[in-house]
Parts: sequence; C-alpha cells; structure tokens
Amino acid sequence: MFVNTQTLLATLSIGLFVYYVIKRMKYRLPPGPWCIPFVGHYKIYSSVEMHKKVAELSKVYGPVVHLSFGTQTWIFLNNNDVVIEALVKKKADFAGRPKLASTDAISAGGKDIAFSSYSPAWKLHRKIAGQALRNYLQGDLLENMIQENMEKFLNKMAQEKDPFIFKDYADSMVFHQLYTICFGQKLPIDDPEVKTLLKLEEDLIDAFGSGFVEDLVPCLKDLCPTAKWKKFVQKAEQLEQFIRAKYRDHVDTFKPGVNRDFIDSLLAAKEEAENEGDESILQKLDDTRLVQTISDIFLAGVDTTRFTMDWFIYFMTMYPEIQTKCQEEIDRVIGAGHPSMKDRNKLDYTEACLFESMRLGSVAGLGIPHMTICDSQVGGYDIPKGTLVFINHWALHNDPKFFKDPEKFDPYRYLDENGKKKPTRPDSWLPFSAGNRVCLGETVAKPEILLMCANLLQRFEFRLPNGEKANPEHRLTGLGTELPAEYKIIVKDRVTKK
Ligand code: HEM
Repeated sequence: MFVNTQTLLATLSIGLFVYYVIKRMKYRLPPGPWCIPFVGHYKIYSSVEMHKKVAELSKVYGPVVHLSFGTQTWIFLNNNDVVIEALVKKKADFAGRPKLASTDAISAGGKDIAFSSYSPAWKLHRKIAGQALRNYLQGDLLENMIQENMEKFLNKMAQEKDPFIFKDYADSMVFHQLYTICFGQKLPIDDPEVKTLLKLEEDLIDAFGSGFVEDLVPCLKDLCPTAKWKKFVQKAEQLEQFIRAKYRDHVDTFKPGVNRDFIDSLLAAKEEAENEGDESILQKLDDTRLVQTISDIFLAGVDTTRFTMDWFIYFMTMYPEIQTKCQEEIDRVIGAGHPSMKDRNKLDYTEACLFESMRLGSVAGLGIPHMTICDSQVGGYDIPKGTLVFINHWALHNDPKFFKDPEKFDPYRYLDENGKKKPTRPDSWLPFSAGNRVCLGETVAKPEILLMCANLLQRFEFRLPNGEKANPEHRLTGLGTELPAEYKIIVKDRVTKK
C-alpha cells in the first residue's frame, strides 16, 4: 500500500493537533505567550538571553511560564515560592532529568549523575560520589592542595608587566585544581594536556549553550545530523576516551588503603561493595557509570568555579573600596600566613562578597533542566509527567522582593548590623539549587572558592589599567550563563600587614 507524502504529513499534523487539544483539556497548564503550533517559541529557545526573556514574560504571565518547542512543553519557574514548592515540598516529583539527544551523547545515555534519570542507580552513584569527595578531601588536604596550586599561579601573575586577562588565570587555576582532585597529578602550569582538556571543555560548553535542533527533533541526529551536532559528538567522545584512560590507569595501579585521588576513592567504594557481595549494588557500579561519575565531577565543577572566580575579581576591580575592605579583613584574620579552613568562619565580609558575586554573576542561570516523574502541580497549575522544568536562577537572584536594588553589588545583604554573617542567606539566593538534585559539589565549592579568592586578595591589589573604566556589559553564552565582558587588569604585590 502506498501512502504519499502529503497524506502522511496531513495525518501527522492531525494526530499532533488532537494530542495537543487532549492535553490542553486534560490539564490546567500554566500560561504562556501564543505561538505557532509545533513551531513553538523557537526564537526564545535559540536566544542566549532565554533566562532574561522568560523573566520578562513572568511579569505578564506569573511565576510559572509555559513555552512550547516542537511537541514539547517546557515550564520555567521564576520565583522562590514556586521553586521551593517544586524542588523541596514535592522534591521527588520534580527530580527527574529530561532525556535529550545532547545530554545522552555526553553521558553515555544518562549513565552519569547530572543527566541521569531519577533512579536507584542515580541515588547510589550520587551517594558514592559524595562519600568519595568527603573521604578524599577530609582533614587539611583541600587547603594544602589549594595552597600549593595557588602559589604557582600567584608567582606567575606577579611577573605580569602589562595588563592581562584574569579569566585565563582563573581557567587554569581551577582546571589544575580539579585535575589534581580527580586524577591525583600535579602538573606544571603550561602542561599541554591541561590546555587540550580546557579547549575541549570550552568547545562542548559553546555547543551546549546555543542549543541543538537535534534536541527538539531527535530523529535528525540519525537521519541528517547538523555539522554542529557531528562536531559535538566527536568532542564528547574525545573527552570520554580521555577520562576512561585515566580510570583504567587507576584500576591497574589501585592499592587498597592508598587514596591518591577521587578516582581511588570511587574504586575503594566499589571494593567495599564487592567485599560485601551485594550483587544489586555491584551491577550498578559498572565501569561506564564510574567513568561518567568522574566526568561529572570534573565538568560540573570546573566551569561553575572558574566563572565564579572571574566574576569575583571583576567586581573587586569594579569596586576598589570593597576590595580594600576585604583585604583589611584578610590581613586582620590571616595576617601573612596561608589562608586555611579555620579562617573561613572569620572572613564574613569577604565571603559575603563571594555570595554577592554568585548572585549577580549568573554562572548557571537556568541550572540543569529537571523533569517531572509523575503528574504534579506547582503554583496552582498542572505539570504533566515527563514535562521539562527549568529553574530560572537568574530571575530568583534578581527578584526585588528579596534583593533591594537587585543590580547593586551589596555584600551587606548577607551580614547583620555587626558585620557578622547572618545565619541564613536570603531565601531567593539559590546558586546551588535545592532539593534532591541540589549541587553535589556545594560543600567543596564554597570553601574552595573562598580560599582561592582570599589567596588572591592577600597577595595582590587588583586594578584596572590606568584610565580605564569597568565595562558593565555581560557576555551571554546560553542556558542563562553570563560572564563579564572581557576585561584586563594589572596587579600590584601587597605588603601584608601582620
Ligand atoms: C560555584 C560553583 C558551583 C555552582 C554555582 C554550581 C551549581 C549547580 C547547579 C545550579 C546545579 C543544578 C542543580 C539542579 O539540578 O537543580 C548543579 C548540579 C551539580 N553540580 Fe554543581 N555547582 C558548582 C560547583 C560544583 C562542583 C565544584 C562540583 C563537583 C565537585 C559540582 C558537581 C555537581 C553535580 C555532580 C551536579 C549534578 C547533581 C545531580 O543531578 O544530582 N558542582 N550545580
């Protein structure tokens, strides 16, 4: 029997239309702007300003906004009430992850933590990765590692005679730091392997930021993939091979009781399960999943951390008087010694500046998309099972209800009248998100970044080159990620007061 193309298209369109009408009748979906059916809000999807455009829409439609992409419905949560309702009060309902062609390609089909569906395997790997991070970084290991790593970079920075781009340093510092955490080795600053890895990572991020048509129409990746998609898959494979090789090296040289790095900690956890003979656990601890867990810790941690560092120094050069206050605090608390974990609770003002940098510097503005694992509700609307849900962290961090004059850099938002850290942060401050999928690295990232920033400000005064004014522009890279417009700085060695 022959079916011509017109008949096929007409049948497909009617089928989709009926599906659309039934869905609309069955559920009370959140509101959103009108769009051409099936084409959807493609213009918003392909915009690097999606987070801002959606925040604007929420002023018209309320905190829960609905947009359509192809046959998919995407929901955006834009204020603290609806985010807490979804992520904390109904946390299991919203703890899924969508199965997208791109996230599947980079995670061996969702076998990692960040893009894995809400499943017993995800729970086990998240638990083991958290445990491995804690085991490996216990005691003064993290601070010693930071100290050694920073020393190399500070000495190099001191030799800069001309204005230079700080971001290049932030990238390398953080890459070397996480390289040591994950793979155990301490490499020279100019090591070509780290540079190649950094380039690979940047290419992947660039591709992710501007989205893939293959995510909206998955069959395209098999029928006629775009050049961008082919390049992305090739880079993702390259990265996987790199991490797999490191993993294999560790398996071959692993000695029980010797913990060289995060990979050894994972292998120790696997060995424990083997000794206990728990078959159900062992099945979930296969090599592919362990390689993907390492890849997650490396990738999820690197970008967010290096971008946060860049924002911090940007604000410090933009507001020299705030920088001076941080340095006075650092001199008072630490003196000429090395910044350490025990100082952390006394660096209230510096930490408040870091929190404010995390609020205004949107490094994960739309976070990682969630998916409902059952029919649920939020803000009084129905959210059907399988709906993709974005948390608009940018909107939360710019909500004037929680942050007066949200565009202003103001560390006092986190301090009491005596200049001490308030016991809690404003409710709408959620850079690490909340609920079941809360950032796994939060407890590492906060002290790690603070110590790195304290090291920088203790050693140098950061200034814009003479006569230059700070550029208030931001660079938008997609998925709500923003960076400062490229800026150059000069540094001046400080004489630390004891
Ligand atoms: C400034 C630093 C960081 C920020 C702002 C940040 C932010 C986030 C956000 C917004 C999410 C998504 C949460 C959600 O789905 O609701 C996330 C997930 C995640 N982060 Fe981070 N992160 C940072 C550093 C790190 C570091 C250093 C690591 C690893 C050592 C890490 C590991 C992860 C992992 C594995 C996930 C996925 C969790 C899951 O899906 O269960 N992050 N992070």
